[in-house]
Amino acid sequence: MRRHSVLGLFAAIAFVAAAVSVQAQNPGGSPTARAVKNPVASTAASVTAGAAAYKKYCAFCHGVAAKGDGPLAPKGTMPADLTDATWARGGSDGEIFAVLMEGAGPKFDMKGFKGKIPDQDAWHIVNFLRSLGPKTAAR
Ligand code: HEC
Repeated sequence: MRRHSVLGLFAAIAFVAAAVSVQAQNPGGSPTARAVKNPVASTAASVTAGAAAYKKYCAFCHGVAAKGDGPLAPKGTMPADLTDATWARGGSDGEIFAVLMEGAGPKFDMKGFKGKIPDQDAWHIVNFLRSLGPKTAAR
């Protein structure tokens, strides 16, 4: 009996550890983030504001045209092309917002911008990125 409860405890710890690491490594996306709705309507003004914020915070790594070819990306890192249909970490507005704020796991070559970019501007950036690429991903 005693042995069983010890095994049960290990199983519980392994389960929690797996859940935490899934959250920290966003490849594949996140159901929690997917459920978050974009509170900022994708108006022309929002896309313009997003473009300006993108230039300021993102372009030096992801490139002016968001093709993943920014001149100042740290050596050995590969910023994602944000204009293609591939969103390794989920392509809904909420998931893109989550990567922006929490960073791109599991390596975090891109760190999160939480506390650096106001939520409102981050949603503008999401709307800007949406205006660039194929509209295949679910909103
Ligand atoms: C220091 C360089 C750097 C900066 C600055 C940066 N990124 Fe990234 N970004 C990366 C790298 C590198 C990856 C790919 C990480 C990987 O694959 O492990 C990435 C991945 C992403 C992804 C995930 C794409 C996918 O398909 O999963 C999104 C979305 C993203 N960046 C958006 C942004 C936005 C928006 C900004 C500006 C607010 C930004 N990034 C700023 C380096 C950067």
